[in-house]
Amino acid sequence: MNIDFNKATFKDFENIPGFDLADRAEVFYDFLKFMRDNGHMNYRLRTESACAPQMDVILTGETKSRNYISYVSNDYLGFTQHPKVKAAAIAGIEKFGTGAGASPLIGGHFEYHELLEQKIAGFFGKPADWSTIYTTGYTANSSTLMSLLQKEDLAIVDMAVHTSVHEGCILTNKKTFPHNNLESLEHILKLAQGQYRTKLVIVDGVYSQDGDVAPLKEIYLLAKKYGAYLMVDDAHGIGVVGATGRGVLEETGLLDKVDFITGTFSKTFGNIGGYVIANPKLTAFLKFQARQQIFSATSNASALGIVKAIELIDEEPIWMDRLRDNIHHFKNGLKGLGLDVGNTQSAIIPVKIGDPHLTGDIGRMLLEQGIYTNPILYPAVPKKDARIRMSLSASHTREQLDKTIDAFAYISKELNLVQV
Ligand SMILES: Cc1ncc(COP(=O)(O)O)c(C=O)c1O
Repeated sequence: MNIDFNKATFKDFENIPGFDLADRAEVFYDFLKFMRDNGHMNYRLRTESACAPQMDVILTGETKSRNYISYVSNDYLGFTQHPKVKAAAIAGIEKFGTGAGASPLIGGHFEYHELLEQKIAGFFGKPADWSTIYTTGYTANSSTLMSLLQKEDLAIVDMAVHTSVHEGCILTNKKTFPHNNLESLEHILKLAQGQYRTKLVIVDGVYSQDGDVAPLKEIYLLAKKYGAYLMVDDAHGIGVVGATGRGVLEETGLLDKVDFITGTFSKTFGNIGGYVIANPKLTAFLKFQARQQIFSATSNASALGIVKAIELIDEEPIWMDRLRDNIHHFKNGLKGLGLDVGNTQSAIIPVKIGDPHLTGDIGRMLLEQGIYTNPILYPAVPKKDARIRMSLSASHTREQLDKTIDAFAYISKELNLVQV
C-alpha cells in the first residue's frame, strides 16, 4: 500500500491493512523523516524555558534553542508562572513531598486532594461531595465515561468532542452528530427512545480546535425532552468565558442544570489533573468505580497550586480582563488581513488553511519569523480543515501580538492566502 506522504497525517499510519506493527513502525519512521526534511516537524520540540508567551525552543535538526513568541500553551490566565501559584505548589511539595504513592482508594488520598475537591466544587457553587478529581483531564472524561456507560447504554456525542470522550465510549454504544447540529441530535434522541437503558449526551462548552461554543440551552432542552443525561466538558471555557470565568455554563445560566461538568486543571489552572462535578451519589459512584480512582496514583501536592489558581480567578479578575482584551485585539488583527478565524468565541484562535501540506509550510514560515504555533491536521480536525491553531494568554503583550499579526500579513502575501 502506497501512502502519499505529501497528503498524509499521523492518523494514516494508525492501522494499515496488511502491515504488522513492525511494518507500520517502519513506514511511519520514513514519514517522520519526510516531515523533518520538509521542515514540517514542529511537534515534540524541546523547550528549554518556562511555559510562557516567549519560549526557548530547539527546532528539529538544530542543536541550539532560539527564542520564539509562543502560542502553544493553554495557559490562558498565565497562572503557570503566577508567583502565588508557584509558592503554593512549592509549599505543598515541601510539606508532603513529591509523590502521593498510591491510588486514592488504597492510600493515595491526602488532605490536599480533599481541599482541591472542596475548592473546585465550591468554584461551581457546590459542596465538596459534588466533585471527583483525576490525574488528568483526559481520564476525567475517559475513566468517568467507562464507569458510567456499558453495553446497554448509549452515548450521543458531538463529532468535535475531545478524543478522551470518544475513548470513554469504547465499552458502550455511541452515536455521533455533526458539530453543533441540533436537528441531527434530536433525530438520534428520537430514534433512541425505548432502545437503551441510559442515554447520555456529551458536548464541550468551548470546542478545542475551533474555539467556538455549543448551543447549550438548546442541547439541554433536547436532552431533557428525550430523557437523556447531559455532560459538558468545558476544559477551554473555564477562566475564559462567563462573567466570573465559570465558562459556557455560566454564560447560558445552566451551571445548576447539567448532570456532569468535566474539566481540566492543565489549562486555566496552570497545573495538571481533571475533575468531574456531579451530584453526591454519582460522585460517590465514580470515586469507587472509575478505574483511574482505583488503579492509578493521584497527583502530588503541587496540586495546592491549583487551589490557589482557583482562588485567583475571583481574587484577581485583571487576568481575565487582560485575556479578553488580547482576544479582541488579536482576532480583529487577523480578520483585518482577511484570514479565516472561523467562529471562535474563546482564547483559541484558529487560522484556517485547509490543505495539510500548506499548513505545514505556514507553520515553518511562522517559525522562521520567530512565531511558534501548532499546525493542526487530521484527525484532530476533518481532513480538509487543517489550520494553524494558537492559544492566547493574559500574559501575551500587545507587542508580541502585533508582531505575530505582521508575520501573518507577510506570509499571507507571500503565499497568496487571501483571494480577493
Ligand atoms: C476539550 C478537552 N477536554 C479534555 C482535555 C484533556 O485534558 P488534559 O490535557 O488535562 O488531559 C483536553 C486537552 O486538550 C481538551 O481539549
